[in-house]
Amino acid sequence: MNIILSGYGKMGRLLENRAAERGHGVAAVIDPFAAASGEAASLTGAGIFDTIDSFEKRNGPVCGCIALDFSRPDAAERNIRTFAEKKIPALVGTTGWYDKLDELGALFERNQGSLLWASNFSLGVNIFYRIAAYCAALIDPYDEYDAGAYETHHNQKADSPSGTAKMIAGHVLKNMKRKTKAVWDKLDRPPKPEELHFSSLRVGAEPGVHGLVFDSAADSIEIRHTARNREGLVSGALIAAEWLDRNVRAGRHGVFTMDDVLA
Ligand SMILES: NC(=O)c1ccc[n+]([C@@H]2O[C@H](COP(=O)([O-])OP(=O)(O)OC[C@H]3O[C@@H](n4cnc5c(N)ncnc54)[C@H](O)[C@@H]3O)[C@@H](O)[C@H]2O)c1
Repeated sequence: MNIILSGYGKMGRLLENRAAERGHGVAAVIDPFAAASGEAASLTGAGIFDTIDSFEKRNGPVCGCIALDFSRPDAAERNIRTFAEKKIPALVGTTGWYDKLDELGALFERNQGSLLWASNFSLGVNIFYRIAAYCAALIDPYDEYDAGAYETHHNQKADSPSGTAKMIAGHVLKNMKRKTKAVWDKLDRPPKPEELHFSSLRVGAEPGVHGLVFDSAADSIEIRHTARNREGLVSGALIAAEWLDRNVRAGRHGVFTMDDVLA
């Protein structure tokens, strides 16, 4: 697989390392800030460019590459549009652009391109979504069990609740008829029976914990996902990129998520 890394921050650098270990090449790194800082060529020897256009000016049209975008929410829409227009198959991990998903997805479909997106590429988290959905459906008929959830992340995380928390809440609400709404804020009142209370804690260096609790007067059932570091995100993204590459080579195009990869 030949990769264009779009975004050369924490994820981009880890992806570069792990991609090389899995035998993949990095054709170029696109990152306007890394390029402007005059940073040396990346580990794999690929050049750092501020845009795809400036890469193409020097090297000709991008061809046979998959773009991995882990940039910034404010850059994502433009980057994704460029991948669609240039027919570069794209795996997008950057968050914060989902209000444009329908529009950008349609652009890929029209151009017979391929887009694979996920707010969390960790295999463990994507398996956890399925376990959460299954547990919620199983417990729904038993009124004696209430449901609630929590997430904990490091104290540098900008957003709250996490995107993963929103996904978990979505799976629970879809599968528990008794719960119709997630409540995220501090509650100065008891939660209503139809509310799923989901709380966020920001502390220290914690990479990410998500827990789902089913609680009754007699006992408590808890399922929990604990990330040890970013490795799960990086390996999941590369597994997904390899899946995308195989599909593109087989002539299958479209808009995909981790559900397609796991299927
Ligand atoms: N989906 C997932 O599994 C997953 C996992 C981790 C992070 N993320 C998301 O990925 C994004 C990046 O995460 P990170 O931790 O590497 O952030 P980071 O801040 O360490 O890196 C972001 C990089 O993007 C670069 N950048 C800015 N504008 C750009 C542009 N127009 N084109 C290309 N690069 C540009 C910045 O210079 C920076 O180097 C965030 O949105 C984060 O929430 C998603």
